[in-house]
Amino acid sequence: MKKALYIILTFALVILAACSNDTTTKDTTNNNTKESKEVNLYTARHYDVDDELYAKFEAETGIKVNVIKGEADELLERIKREGDATQADLFLTADAGRLFRAKDEGLLQAVSSDVLDEQIPANFQDKDQMWYGLTKRARVMIYNKETVKPEELSTYEALTEDKWKGRILIRGSENVYNQSLLASFIEINGEENAKEWASGLVANFARDPEGGDRDQAKAIVAGIGDVAIMNTYYFGQMLNSEDPEEVKVAQKLGVFFPNQETTGTHVNVSGAGVVKTSKNKENAIKLLEFLSSPESQITFAEANYEYPVNKSVEPSELLKSWGEFKEQEIPLSTLGENNAKSILIFNEVGWK
Ligand code: FE2
Repeated sequence: MKKALYIILTFALVILAACSNDTTTKDTTNNNTKESKEVNLYTARHYDVDDELYAKFEAETGIKVNVIKGEADELLERIKREGDATQADLFLTADAGRLFRAKDEGLLQAVSSDVLDEQIPANFQDKDQMWYGLTKRARVMIYNKETVKPEELSTYEALTEDKWKGRILIRGSENVYNQSLLASFIEINGEENAKEWASGLVANFARDPEGGDRDQAKAIVAGIGDVAIMNTYYFGQMLNSEDPEEVKVAQKLGVFFPNQETTGTHVNVSGAGVVKTSKNKENAIKLLEFLSSPESQITFAEANYEYPVNKSVEPSELLKSWGEFKEQEIPLSTLGENNAKSILIFNEVGWK
């Protein structure tokens, strides 16, 4: 009797195993013909916390994130070079101007998602839905607390006044952050005004532009100038730097959000778009949705002292300590659309 039961049970188990095996095979077949359980991300971000988020996404969805890191322009070139054969599904980089470049070169495709529309404000998306902003930064004034009173500061435009002669620090015009800043002025004030601003600022430069954003802050403390225009996250990075010298420099400086009574402070994003030839489009959209979800947003933004784009999420304590501010209210698509005009103006006014 016992033996008979044993045989029946074994038989049943064999059938069960066969059934489940069958299901697995079917699943794999489906996935192979439709879409695999992976997404290939080309990213210009280099933060450990990003990797933690990708691991969380993998655990939640079973979709493996294959991450390829590099400089933004190199990654763009690589996608171009690889052509139809590229493995890239999603391209993630800083600055709407660069995202526009990817779009303009035909490397991205439009995607639509109610979740993305709910989580990311319309002005932080490409107007043709080819890329989506994921973290936000402001291009602000950083000033020497010893030589400048915040009451002396007001607008980007006011920095062209004579009193600032020889006191303004900002990086070169080849940099996309400045191209986007000027592109925003073209959008808001028109080309003529934007050009006047650029030439007025050049006239007040403390030195020929050199170095990155952080170098402008260092130049203030070195006594070269008094006010720098730079992105908020660089200031956050300096305040939290492992290099005590950088911390010391940052502590001597203040943050000022310009144009609060007028057009608002210039903001930009880092963001991502689905690559035109993506073989895992649905997975790429899922990753975008995950990165803009409330749970991911604060982690993602905090990794680089940026502001979340998702309005349901509060910025980190450090960013909150700098105060709330009014932002420019233009669609960030325009930063890319006006990019060529910006470069032209920079050349005309001799902004190196
Ligand atoms: Fe940057």
